[in-house]
Amino acid sequence: MSRQRVVLGISGASGAAIGVRIAELLGQSPEIETHLVISPAAQKTLAIEIGPDAVAHLERCVAKRHPSDDIGTEIASGSVPTAGMIVAPCSMRTLSGIACGIADNLLIRTADVHLKERRPLILVARESPLHLGHLRAMAAVTEFGAIVAPPVPAFYLRPERLSDVVDQIALRTIDLLRLRNAPRARPWSTSGH
Ligand SMILES: Cc1cc2nc3c(=O)[nH]c(=O)nc-3n(C[C@H](O)[C@H](O)[C@H](O)COP(=O)(O)O)c2cc1C
Repeated sequence: MSRQRVVLGISGASGAAIGVRIAELLGQSPEIETHLVISPAAQKTLAIEIGPDAVAHLERCVAKRHPSDDIGTEIASGSVPTAGMIVAPCSMRTLSGIACGIADNLLIRTADVHLKERRPLILVARESPLHLGHLRAMAAVTEFGAIVAPPVPAFYLRPERLSDVVDQIALRTIDLLRLRNAPRARPWSTSGH
């Protein structure tokens, strides 16, 4: 059976650790081939929030990293099958670009391809507070078929460390793609708590 191709976009919202964790988790499965796009702003947030080695670490986790200005690479074409795309974290700029179909960089172009091909697109949209334009963009992408999954902690699991919160958000996001043999979030159980 062929490997499931997944696109991971990391844009310049806070929460770079979530994108990194998703790349690490997807990279654990031999049945998943991850294609990574990092926006220029995300290079900055990755350096600020994780450190200078974050991009090199990400590149080791994935099958291929695509330059964000290479709109001619394979994942920019709907003819190349994928199992879906995650944008984590998703900035309001990238969200708005997707909502308007302004496909002038590879990340937004590939998200646009996922919408036009009716494939899963998960947007871990991060900003607070939200103005009406953000909310309207979220409504628009939802109408187009995307799933907006903001990075909110599952307080009911009583996380002890920030890494618990990041893990849980990363796993729940991956769950939404319904991949074969992917790492899964632990389901809520009343007996286990
Ligand atoms: C440290 C840092 C944190 C940021 N956090 C957010 C955020 O949480 N949400 C957001 O929409 N933009 C945030 N921004 C601003 C975006 O990086 C900026 O709007 C950028 O143009 C987004 O470009 P991109 O969507 O191409 O990555 C942040 C910027 C920095 C430097």
